[in-house]
This record gives sequence, C-alpha cells and structure tokens, in this order.
Amino acid sequence: MQTLTIIQPDDMHLHLRDGEALKAVLPFTARQMGRAVIMPNLKPPVVSVADAMAYKARIMDALPPNSTFEPLMTLYLTDKSTPELVREAKAAGIVAFKLYPAGATTNSDSGVTDLFKLMPVLQEMAKQGVLFLVHGEVTDPEVDIFDREAVFIERVMKPVLQQVPDLKVVFEHITTADAARLVMEAGDNVAASVTPQHLLLNRNDLLVGGVRPHRYCLPVLKRESHRKALVEAVTGDNAHKFFLGTDSAPHARSLKENACGCAGMFSAATAIELYAEVFDKAGALDKLEAFASKNGARFYGLPENPRSITLIKQPCPVEAAIPFGDGEVLVPMRGGEQVAWTVQY
Ligand code: NCD
Ligand code: ZN
Repeated sequence: MQTLTIIQPDDMHLHLRDGEALKAVLPFTARQMGRAVIMPNLKPPVVSVADAMAYKARIMDALPPNSTFEPLMTLYLTDKSTPELVREAKAAGIVAFKLYPAGATTNSDSGVTDLFKLMPVLQEMAKQGVLFLVHGEVTDPEVDIFDREAVFIERVMKPVLQQVPDLKVVFEHITTADAARLVMEAGDNVAASVTPQHLLLNRNDLLVGGVRPHRYCLPVLKRESHRKALVEAVTGDNAHKFFLGTDSAPHARSLKENACGCAGMFSAATAIELYAEVFDKAGALDKLEAFASKNGARFYGLPENPRSITLIKQPCPVEAAIPFGDGEVLVPMRGGEQVAWTVQY
C-alpha cells in the first residue's frame, strides 16, 4: 500500500469559534496540524491584544491532554486600529492582522470601510514584520459575486502593494487564476493560502442538480478553469508562494440548510487527506510536503514542525454529521462519503 510521510503540516487559516463549538472542532485540527493561524472573526471580533490573549487561553484550555498544538493568534483590523496597536501586538507574539472588507463574509460587520485611511497601520506592520492577511473581495454591491476577487486585485491589492511595497501579505483563500497570477508576479513578500474546496470543487459542484448549501463558502467556488489554475499554482514552478490554509469554518447544520444559509465549509476533520487527494490526482504528491509543512512556516518566519505524519492511500469514511454543541451538528466537507487517503494516528 502506498504511504507518504511528511513533516507535520500547519493550517495557516482556521476558524475555531468559541465556547462549545471551539471544544467540538479543535480536536480535529490538533490531531493533525502542528500549528494553526486562528481567525479573529468572533462575535464580537478579536480586536485588542487582551482579547487575543484571552482567546488563546480558551483555546489552550480546550485542547486534548498532552496536545502539542500551537495556536498562532491574529487581530481583526478595524477602522480604529493604530500603529501603536501593531507594536503591542508584535510584543505579545501576535503574528498578523486580518483584513475583512466590511460586509464581505461571516461576522465582518466590524470590517474596514476604507483601507486607504489605514496606511500608517500597514506601514507599521511592514516595519514590525507583522503579517497582513487579506480577505480579498470587494463588497461593492455593483460587482458580481464571481468577480469580487478579481476586482479587489485592481482596486485594493495592487495599490496597497505599491504604497507599502515591503508589507508581508497573505492573499487568503485564493479562488481565481487572476489571484494566483498576482501572487506569482509579486515579490517574495506576497504569498497565498489555498483551501481544499477551491482545489477540489467548482461552481457546478455548488449549483448543478440542486443547491448544495454545505458547499457554499466565501469567496464562492469559481468556474473549472480557475480551479485548474489553482492546482497548477500549488504544484508548479512558483509553488513556494502557496501554502495550506483550510479556511475550515464550522456552522451549525440548521444555519447552512436555511433559506438564507451562511457561508463556510468545515474541512478540518480530514484536511490533509483532502489536500493529498489534490496532489495525488495532479501527479504531484512529492510537492505536498512543501505546500503543507514548509512554505507557510517559512513565510511566517517559523521553524518547521519537529514531528511528522504518515498518510496511507486507503479510503477513509467521513462522518455525515459531527456534534457541534447545544444539540446542534455540523456537516463536514465530504460528509457521509470518503476521502482517498487516511492519516495513521
Ligand atoms: C468564514 C466563516 O464562516 O467564518 N466563512 C467562509 O465562507 N469562509 C469567513 C471567511 O473566512 O470568509
Ligand atoms: Zn476564513
């Protein structure tokens, strides 16, 4: 049987939520990832160093005994963020600020209304080596939802990179050939995270034969040519600029299977297994370790994880529903089906 041993991966984009939900989802990530970059879009969002430290303590409390998992904390950028906050964050070990354009996605009401007013804050991030994580979609109601990432590149990403050329930017959960190209053509201070869903699924998988609410996430799935471009990006000559970030974003089933279903796919239960499928199908399994375990750590200035994990090419069933606190369940990506690889725990 085919096996693959790689350095333990990191998840550079993860939603853990809080309270009972946190306790329900954290063990899935902690059993396979060495570290994860924790998204700050709680209700209310994580905006101060004190918020982030308190949230980190709750995450540590929710970890299974003897876990070596390490959460990497981030702050939610708002119109009120200051250069001084960037210095405080750096001193406290916070790795990044996350930009949510106001209204772009789940819990983004506190998001930034005009990024160009925050240039002194971005300049301080560049100076301190604090990363700038970007949800790269415009929220202009005139712009078609499938074009929001491409328009963001022209309206925001390019001007920001011009004004703060040494800012370390992660273009999060990229979904288009346009974003992949921007990252490849930019300097080594620009990288991107890529989710399993955007590498495995296209918008037909979301909409043909009926709406699949559990495949609805933001940025929304795109057409097949974009999915192919992403697979080429993570396996091609510039693959060092791309790394694993699941954007695993749990929501209760009742809020997904809903007349106004919310955005987010939960992939943490079988994250590395799904990525292994992508690289295997592309004939590029030898590139999985760099994507999952090296490129992200290098970009964040962290050492590679000391442990390793082993994957076996053997189908693994994915649970149809997972308890999610308060009598709720969540439906994972591939729920009730299989993934082609199994992690040997
Ligand atoms: C995320 C969530 O639910 O927190 N949803 C999603 O569709 N990805 C928010 C986000 O990262 O956009
Ligand atoms: Zn996210």
